[in-house]
Amino acid sequence: MNAHHHHGHHPTAPASLGTATDQPSTDPRTVRIALEARETNWEVAPGVTIAGFGYNGQVPGPAIELTQGVPVEIQFTNRLSEPTLIHWHGLRIPAAMDGTDSTQKPVEPGETFTYRFTPPDAGTFWYHPHANETEQLEKGLYGAFIVRGDDQPGIGRQQIEPVVDREQTLIFDDVNADKQGRLAKFGGFRERHDGREGDIRLINGKAEPELTIAAGQIERWRIINASSARYIRFSLGGATFRIIGTDGGLIEAPVEVTEVLLPAADRVEILVGPFEEGRTLTIDSLRYMRSTFKRRGKESFGTLVVGPAKPSRAAIPARLRTIEPLIDSDAKPNRTVTFKVAPSLRRGLDFLVNGEMHHNDQPVKVGELQVWDVVNVSLMDHPFHLHGFFFQVLAINGKAPAFRSWEDVVNLPPRSTVRIAWMPEDRPGSWMYHCHILEHHEAGMMGHFEVVR
Ligand code: C2O
Ligand code: CU
Repeated sequence: MNAHHHHGHHPTAPASLGTATDQPSTDPRTVRIALEARETNWEVAPGVTIAGFGYNGQVPGPAIELTQGVPVEIQFTNRLSEPTLIHWHGLRIPAAMDGTDSTQKPVEPGETFTYRFTPPDAGTFWYHPHANETEQLEKGLYGAFIVRGDDQPGIGRQQIEPVVDREQTLIFDDVNADKQGRLAKFGGFRERHDGREGDIRLINGKAEPELTIAAGQIERWRIINASSARYIRFSLGGATFRIIGTDGGLIEAPVEVTEVLLPAADRVEILVGPFEEGRTLTIDSLRYMRSTFKRRGKESFGTLVVGPAKPSRAAIPARLRTIEPLIDSDAKPNRTVTFKVAPSLRRGLDFLVNGEMHHNDQPVKVGELQVWDVVNVSLMDHPFHLHGFFFQVLAINGKAPAFRSWEDVVNLPPRSTVRIAWMPEDRPGSWMYHCHILEHHEAGMMGHFEVVR
């Protein structure tokens, strides 16, 4: 069931694909990166090696670190024995560079494709395949994509970056493999229902690692949930930390919490510390029930050991950024998108959007504000992801979220309505939204639509 699932249910690639982005960049600042997907022995723990896939032979793939507004050319070569392509999750770039099979031909074994774009926003993004995702991500194809601010005032997107003592990126993942590192067979009814979860719990490709922080210092952690299905209800042994950013960059002001929920594909940026020397904190995912067969209590992903004190130069502004509301929270929706799980004689379960698999949704017009009610009529959670555009969450079951932010992933709790607003900027072409539980996505829980001028 895992072979190529996007067949025939969506619009074919638009004729406008041969655009200026196919031309090499002439900007002298252009950053050039080579990425290769290939079979990789992935050692998740001493003596536990998974026959996986890696970008440039590593899991996670190399962290791509760029500056807002500076062009990048990523020359991608497929050395796997199956087709693949790369989606730049969260980046607001032209449709032709979105890296899905709605916007390009999959890159066949031995072929090269060059992605060319200019990241417009500072923030924590990630990259992963958009072909046979259930297997390719599980085997290790994912990496961090970090964009730093250029300190230039942008179109309402200026931000004041906090000064911290150190920055770390933490990519959470889990793998379903045995103690010898043999991957469990893919597929089956439970995996289709729950999404694939595993008991090998990873940060940055290693099982339950030990991280360190110097006493007295404040670090900025960029956290990415690259799991196929698992929800990370992140906690640092109960200690308080401050949320400073979400999918689309900084929020307006730091928010102090003791936990934060990251559904699959979600990101959050937090400030951790200062702590006292000698403390050890567990990096946990707290119990989260999402109507799966497999129930999970609190589970550890790693530990944080507080080492000898070092001086701190951290300076955390009280205001980080201004995020203008796109519209009032009681705005009338102009579209309803309904996520549903229905029993099916042939497949056991169907994962549907507006009653169909791989739903073909209406086009949206550039410049026409979208207010969508994303309705989940099922009894399980689904992480809703919109490609290529940030949205603001106006309300979850009629209630405004705790703070305003830019998002590309939002959790749809069971039997809920999440109202979002987003602006189709002038980037016409084929776009999509879908559940980011990869097995649900594969089963067709997605919608395709065109952005038209
Ligand atoms: Cu992470 Cu279709 O996306
Ligand atoms: Cu789902």
